[in-house]
Formats: sequence, C-alpha cells, structure tokens
Amino acid sequence: MKLQGKTAIVTGGAGGIGRAITTVFVQQGADVLFVDIDRERGESLEQELGSHARFLRIDISEQTSAAVIRDAALSAFGSIDILVNNAHASRQAAFVETTSEMFDLSFNTGFYPTVHLMQACYEQLRASKGSVVNFASGSGLEGMPRQTSYAAAKEAIRGVSRVAANEWAPDGIRVNVVCPFAATEGVSAWQAQHPEQAAQAVAKVPLRRIGNPETDIAPVVAFLASEEARYITGQTVMADGGMIQLH
Ligand SMILES: NC(=O)c1ccc[n+]([C@@H]2O[C@H](COP(=O)([O-])OP(=O)(O)OC[C@H]3O[C@@H](n4cnc5c(N)ncnc54)[C@H](O)[C@@H]3O)[C@@H](O)[C@H]2O)c1
Repeated sequence: MKLQGKTAIVTGGAGGIGRAITTVFVQQGADVLFVDIDRERGESLEQELGSHARFLRIDISEQTSAAVIRDAALSAFGSIDILVNNAHASRQAAFVETTSEMFDLSFNTGFYPTVHLMQACYEQLRASKGSVVNFASGSGLEGMPRQTSYAAAKEAIRGVSRVAANEWAPDGIRVNVVCPFAATEGVSAWQAQHPEQAAQAVAKVPLRRIGNPETDIAPVVAFLASEEARYITGQTVMADGGMIQLH
C-alpha cells in the first residue's frame, strides 16, 4: 500500500476524478479528509469508505475555507502529508464574450483555493515533508477555444506550482501538477450529447480511449503523492493517453 499511514486532503473529493482519488487513497492506506460542495454525494462516499475517509461540506471559493479545511484535517487525523487541489468550476465562452464573472468563477474555485490551501497547510507539509498535487488541463496548455477563463486559471496554477516546488524543495515538500483526460460524469454526458465531437476527441488520443478516473488518473496522483516519487517535483504529468506530449 503506497500511502500507508499518510494523511491527505482532497478538494472536490465527492465527484468525478476527486471521488476516484479519495477512494484510491483510502485503498492505498491513507486517511483522507475530502471536501466538496455536494453534501449528498460526499456523505454517501464517506459511508461507503468507512473510518479512513472524513467528509467536510464546504465551498472552497469562500476565502476562509482554507484554514477551516486544514483545521478539520488536523482534528480528524493529526497531521497533513498530502494536499490534492482537484476541484475547479468554470464556464465556456468565446474569447470576446468572456466576462469578469467567468474569470472570477474560475479563479475563485480553481486558482485561489489552490494557493490558499497550500499556504494554510505549509507548516504541516513542512513538518511531514509532504507532497502537493495540483490539477491543470490540456485546455490551458493547448489554448483550447472557448476556455479563456479556465485556461487562464489552469496555467496560473502551473506557474505557482513551479514557484512553490522551487521555494519548498529545501523543506522537502514536493509540488507537482496532473493534467487528466477522464470520463467523469460531465465528460460522459458531453460524450452522449455530442457523440461526433467526442469521437473526434478520442481519435486524437494516441491510446484511443478516454481515461478512467479510478484506474487511469487516481493511481498517477497516488504515485506522485507517495514516497516512490521522492525525486519528482515541479513537473506537469499528462495523464491523457498521450494526447499532449510535453517537450
Ligand atoms: N475530466 C477531465 O477530463 C479533465 C480534463 C482536464 C482537467 N481536468 C481537471 O481535473 C479536475 C477534476 O475534474 P473533474 O472532471 O473530476 O471535475 P468534476 O466537475 O466532475 O468534479 C469536481 C468536483 O468538485 C466539486 N466542486 C466544484 N466546485 C466546488 C466548490 N466551490 N467547493 C467545493 N467543491 C467544489 C464538485 O461538486 C465536484 O464533486 C479539475 O481540476 C478539472 O479542471 C479534468
């Protein structure tokens, strides 16, 4: 078990990829505080996973949430080894139609919670020589049309992740980024609504399929969070079937 005895915080842990990360982390021996805005799904996953998973219903776009999440993890498990900043909400629009409200949504659910949680948990991560895994997207790397506010926040997350990786390396804290491509509920609904678009997207994936959150993405996050990745920091890891190949 890769994460035996580790304690983790996972944002957006009740749905999609976050749900898979919470589940796989518990399977790998971790104690996980997972937070989400969706109470129903969070409570049902908490029941399913048992005493190694604790759910906190919170909106991470609220400025005070970072300290509340850190304190909840400490009171549940006493330490923080791993921080996974996974949650992110955004709206698509043409570049000229992208509004300040759209930037606010994307930065307030993606960028700022990532930064604020890293800051709030810094002392605990330093004490544990911990690991941070943040989430970005091929949409940002490739500049996908209609993703202005999302791409901006995702590339900002990659930027600050590299800064923290360099600043915190002497403390023994590693910071990495994952860019996934996976069939979450949202992606599956899009596939069902726009089968031609989805087929075109799959055709661009060298491995010719959309990833599975539990078997293709969460194990990559568990690896990066584990001691096995002790010599990896400041990296963006593409878990996307080979769609984007970084040079
Ligand atoms: N699914 C993909 O193929 C894909 C591709 C590229 C990047 N990503 C990134 O991977 C991460 C996970 O994506 P996903 O597809 O699982 O997303 P998702 O939308 O399926 O799940 C996100 C989870 O975050 C929660 N959440 C949303 N806003 C919140 C808030 N304000 N406070 C607390 N919780 C909140 C949601 O309730 C949900 O459970 C995101 O950062 C996303 O941008 C996903």
